[in-house]
Amino acid sequence: MIEVKRLKIFYGSADRRVEAVDEIEFSVDQGASLGLLGPSGCGKTTLLFAIAGLITPNEGSLLIDGEKVVGIRRDVALILQNAGLLPWKTVWGNANLSLKLSGRYPAENAAAVLEELGLAEFRDSFPSELSEGMKRRVGIARALAITPSVMLMDEPLASLDAITQERIQNLFLELWQERRFTMVFVTHDIEEAAFLGEKIIVLSERPARIKAIVENPQMGPLNYRETSEFHRIVTHLRMVMEQ
Ligand SMILES: Nc1ncnc2c1ncn2[C@@H]1O[C@H](COP(=O)(O)OP(=O)(O)O)[C@@H](O)[C@H]1O
Ligand SMILES: [Mg+2]
Repeated sequence: MIEVKRLKIFYGSADRRVEAVDEIEFSVDQGASLGLLGPSGCGKTTLLFAIAGLITPNEGSLLIDGEKVVGIRRDVALILQNAGLLPWKTVWGNANLSLKLSGRYPAENAAAVLEELGLAEFRDSFPSELSEGMKRRVGIARALAITPSVMLMDEPLASLDAITQERIQNLFLELWQERRFTMVFVTHDIEEAAFLGEKIIVLSERPARIKAIVENPQMGPLNYRETSEFHRIVTHLRMVMEQ
């Protein structure tokens, strides 16, 4: 489904070059989930934005469904850090934003998605009137409203309290299992990676290089966090990150 080959991305000009992504290579099967785990500033957002078609890589190739990624694809949704809501738009307006951008407004299923995420009665509220957890759910609703086959997420749960974070992780797990989209998420949170990633790629400090690829085949149950396998994976990821 997604194929990344020898990707290199840098910012700036030749004399002041900032390398962000260096020789990254991986692939993700259709319907699989991949976590990209790395420290702050290592190049995670840069890599994800390239997959989303928002940044053009300097070297290497990037394919989705066998097609070269050039610009934003209609079947790819992106959930931004801190939800990325427009403060002057209501919940309804924000949930329909990607559809407006891709010229399909209003969405048949935007209402159903808001209902499913418990946001229906807040349809006409503005982001400032919502809790942090609800704002993140509006960001998720926006992404789901286009019925994506690929879901890209950039630290969607950073700076949430621990309980809300776990609840929304559970929601991501259920949505992924129900809808079978291909999920690629970026995080610096080891436990989030272990809970949501069937496969986890550990990235180095900037420029992002692959340090390890960790298989996590037993993820999937909602109570996975309570299992010894989860703790084994968390300990292993922590060790690799600290190396
Ligand atoms: N637009 C930009 N221009 C120049 N440098 C940038 C730009 N965006 C990011 N960088 C640099 O690239 C590196 C990786 O950034 P980013 O991909 O945002 O990392 P992460 O998401 O892992 O925190 C950082 O060191 C950052 O300073
Ligand atoms: Mg980032």
